Amino acid sequence: MQDLNPFDSALPFPELRDLWGSLSPRKARKAEETEAQPTNRWGFPREKDLDHDRRKALADSVLLAKLAAPFRTSLQLRRLAGAPRRTDEPFSFAVLGDAEPGRFWIFRKLFNVPGVFQRQLAAVQEQPVDFSLQLGDMVSRGIMRNYLRFFKELNGADIRRPYLTVIGNHDRLSPHHRSNAKLYTATFGRTNYTFEHGGARFVCLDTSAHGLTRHQLQWLDRVLDTPLLKIVFTHIPPACLRRWTDFGASRGIGGFKPGATELTEIVSRRRVARVYLGHIHGFGVQDYKGVRYVLTGGGGSPLFPSGVNDKFHHFIVARVADGAVRETVHTLERGTFEIPNGRVLFSP
Ligand SMILES: [Fe+2]
Repeated sequence: MQDLNPFDSALPFPELRDLWGSLSPRKARKAEETEAQPTNRWGFPREKDLDHDRRKALADSVLLAKLAAPFRTSLQLRRLAGAPRRTDEPFSFAVLGDAEPGRFWIFRKLFNVPGVFQRQLAAVQEQPVDFSLQLGDMVSRGIMRNYLRFFKELNGADIRRPYLTVIGNHDRLSPHHRSNAKLYTATFGRTNYTFEHGGARFVCLDTSAHGLTRHQLQWLDRVLDTPLLKIVFTHIPPACLRRWTDFGASRGIGGFKPGATELTEIVSRRRVARVYLGHIHGFGVQDYKGVRYVLTGGGGSPLFPSGVNDKFHHFIVARVADGAVRETVHTLERGTFEIPNGRVLFSP
């Protein structure tokens, strides 16, 4: 059977062309771009057009470097170090989850609420926190256009607290396949790093490639070897936290598997106080092998169907005092509630 090309003007039903466009704006746009691209008689792009593309890529890179410079992790850490706390002094920090607006047009239409991330980012600035930490998935896909848009938003947001991040899978070039993290590292910097503030050591761990390497696990074990209070931030939950990572019959699909068990073993052995996680757009608390894991993926991303029951937009303010952490959850509607200290028990 002959394939029908919906962009073919000779199509017997010309209205299909519009319908196709409305169903898939990306395909329609691509078709328009293809039509507009002049080529030489062999079908290759002309030198003039290649020059234009090169110049645009260069201009975008320069603009991104300029927009991202104030948010580089090393600079933010220097800002934080400029306002130190004594080891016995209480302080607070904010945790904000996934912000990307949804990669696919249909999901954006169905589940995204525009502007939530900006509202929550502004609300974080009103809190008495020493810094905020974004748990990854700032952009839908790690391409220039998305990073430019994100850093334009950050520059327009009047961010007064040091702003730190961990990398999410969507911040890489391809969110679910082997791909590079060039734009994240070019803008923010390292993807695994640690810092101290007050009586706590914080570890930002890169699980954006859906796994942990042996070297990362060795590094994690080493940096958690401290008498300070220990707090870990990472984007993807380990698959063994199955109350969040199971989805229907698919076990652990919402989490990462390589290195997952080793991660939970290390944080348990090192008596980590908290592990903050994103990736799944919802909220939850699990005590697993003596460690409290807090899922806080409601930074502004669409609240997709997932294995998590509690799906709402929120951010967390965590207070460190007397060697312990207590969290208050701030929902988008400005309601707040405290996460109880007691161990979380699930019915069998
Ligand atoms: Fe993610």
